[in-house]
Amino acid sequence: MTAVPRDLDEYLAANDERIRRELFDLLAIPSVSARSEHDADTRRTAEWVAKSLRSAGLTAAVHETAGHPVVVGEYRGAPDGAPTVLVYGHYDVQPAEPLDLWTSPPFAPTIRDGRIYARGSVDDKGQLFLHLKALEAHLAVRGRLPVNVIVLAEGEEETGSEHLTPFIEAHAELLRCDAVVISDSAMFAPGLPSVLSSLRGLAYFQIDVRGPAQDLHSGSYGGAVVNPAMALARILATMHDADGRVAIAGFYDAVREWPAHVREQMHGLPFEDEAFREETGAVALGGERGYTVLERLWTRPTCEVNGLLSGYTGEGAKTVLPARAMAKVSCRLVPDQAPAEIERLMHEHVHRVAPEGVQVEVTHLHGGRPWRAELDGPLFDAARRALAAAFGREPVITGEGGSIPVVGDFERVLGAPVLLMGFGLPGENAHAPDEWISVDNFTKGMRAAAMLLEELGKGESH
Ligand code: BES
Ligand code: MN
Ligand code: MN
Repeated sequence: MTAVPRDLDEYLAANDERIRRELFDLLAIPSVSARSEHDADTRRTAEWVAKSLRSAGLTAAVHETAGHPVVVGEYRGAPDGAPTVLVYGHYDVQPAEPLDLWTSPPFAPTIRDGRIYARGSVDDKGQLFLHLKALEAHLAVRGRLPVNVIVLAEGEEETGSEHLTPFIEAHAELLRCDAVVISDSAMFAPGLPSVLSSLRGLAYFQIDVRGPAQDLHSGSYGGAVVNPAMALARILATMHDADGRVAIAGFYDAVREWPAHVREQMHGLPFEDEAFREETGAVALGGERGYTVLERLWTRPTCEVNGLLSGYTGEGAKTVLPARAMAKVSCRLVPDQAPAEIERLMHEHVHRVAPEGVQVEVTHLHGGRPWRAELDGPLFDAARRALAAAFGREPVITGEGGSIPVVGDFERVLGAPVLLMGFGLPGENAHAPDEWISVDNFTKGMRAAAMLLEELGKGESH
């Protein structure tokens, strides 16, 4: 097993403290893309990333979109014939609420027990930043990069990457590359570097149910007026059958069988249901009958309520018949389910099962395609060597239940293979209070990223 080159390793070690300080500066900016009150912070983060790229020795531009800006960094000085690698990450983060459940404030990064705690530490600022430092190390130590590099950092991943796909389509020439590298996922277990072979897609809706013109006295009117909260509960209750399958007509029509060799890989991974249950704190696991937990998470589509709102939810009791009820519902998708088609089926289903006496509306929120790839070829060989050098063991191939909407677009628009090598860990609390990244994974991640550039520049890969 080859090691991470000494000069790069030593540079990263010698600059460890400054790198940590910079990371903390980045994590301190509340770039919450979903909240307009943070628009200025989100923009400031884009500028921060651009500046960091420039100080590493790349050129960088902040491109306006109809939403949050896209940052593009470039280095075009590689030797003739060297490939071009696009590194993608997102500088936006999820809202930090509920704030009172954080041990230390979300935007005041802190190290405890070998972990860096902050919103965005693992998803995805920390993982984007480690690539910037790998680029910096190469340029500082050797004065050049072994490959041409494009860094694409977006600020809307956590809200659905709505403006990124059109951006990529409009700038396909600028973004033309031979490979895409993304660190925005987790390793399967501590010490076990992982390469993703699949992501689920997403189709996200809001269901609104309207009844009376305003809230009513539940004694004076209840029993004679259809209750929107009950109507919504009925609608939601039709979405699964007794076996935990999604009961929307046509929902599984486009679902493809998972290849046998991928299933085999999956069953070889060290996984215990009970440990997984414990991680969640749930009293029992559940899901579609006939599938293992990992199959349910990675290979099967779902339909889940993400939020519910209706009537009186404050202290004590208020006798009221609510005027409206609302649910946020999302479906995770697998190949070849298409978000637009699932949206059509959901629309049909909800209107078919809606009780009389209420008005029902299904609104599109966002969508992204599922992705699955065969991991072969020079990009994955390079990744295997880079991860082995940094972590001291070969990576495993895993799947993922989450979504990164733009991954399919990279393949479709740029025609380049995508490598997903993430440095998070189970229990990292992404999207939740007390999000963290392991210090050890962060430092090894930088080395793996540096080594990957080295490997991709060696030539077998182009
Ligand atoms: N980094 C995650 C995707 C992810 C989640 C990778 C879990 C590996 C494990 C990404 O930032 C994310 O949260 N994506 C959203 C999608 C989006 C459209 C809001 C998701 O999966 O909910
Ligand atoms: Mn992410
Ligand atoms: Mn996320």
